[in-house]
Amino acid sequence: MARKPVIAGNWKMFKTVEETVRFFDEFKPLVAGADHCEVLLCTPFPVLTAAVETVRGTGIAIGAQNLYWEKQGAFTGEVSAPMIKAAGCSHVLVGHSERRQYFGETDATVLKRTLAALEEGLTPVVCIGETLDERESGATEAVLATQFTDGVGSLTPDQFSRIIIAYEPVWAIGTGRTATPEIAEEAHRFIRQKVAEKFGAGLAGGMRILYGGSVKPDNVNSLMSCENIDGGLVGGASLKPEDFAKIVHFADQPA
Ligand code: PGA
Repeated sequence: MARKPVIAGNWKMFKTVEETVRFFDEFKPLVAGADHCEVLLCTPFPVLTAAVETVRGTGIAIGAQNLYWEKQGAFTGEVSAPMIKAAGCSHVLVGHSERRQYFGETDATVLKRTLAALEEGLTPVVCIGETLDERESGATEAVLATQFTDGVGSLTPDQFSRIIIAYEPVWAIGTGRTATPEIAEEAHRFIRQKVAEKFGAGLAGGMRILYGGSVKPDNVNSLMSCENIDGGLVGGASLKPEDFAKIVHFADQPA
């Protein structure tokens, strides 16, 4: 089954409103007419509205980087799915490794956030991936299986059909140390197999699995050539309009 690629940016804690508007002024013309893939930028909360305004009419989607599972209430500092939806977003990242590493995110909270996003009609981009220690000790598949089962394995098939998975090996994030296409493909194939075991071949065949971890213009083409890699979740290289536009046009980059 043909899966439409998704090229997603994760700005992390970068860019003010002014910098956001400047980014899109440069970026929009560079990706005008690029309908071979979905283009998504996940920005910090304070610039979501400005980002949504500037991309109106372009087909570029805007997402948040986290959400809290309650709809409203006395939860100082948190932001809910209805708020993100009302800001004009269509997507939200869930369980990014930096949230797991620095902010106590667990598979149990990933599930709560995923359900809250789905209830609001947002598309959660659920991140999983092993640390360097886990890879070196041969635990990669066990870690991915647990994160998958405990994070999203209990969704209904309908709910599951509305999520995107991002495989991000923690050792490749922000390190310049990209997983080779072979390593990435192996993990993606394993994840798709888990999806097939749990939800059947149909859902597994349609599920988009993005790769994240030092994706750059010069490695995106070889990653995207892999059968089970359906897009990228791009941190550092999504901050520069020219670089991110090159990644959107992945087939034109050196292989
Ligand atoms: P990176 O980040 O592209 O800077 O490695 C990826 C991510 O954290 O999503």
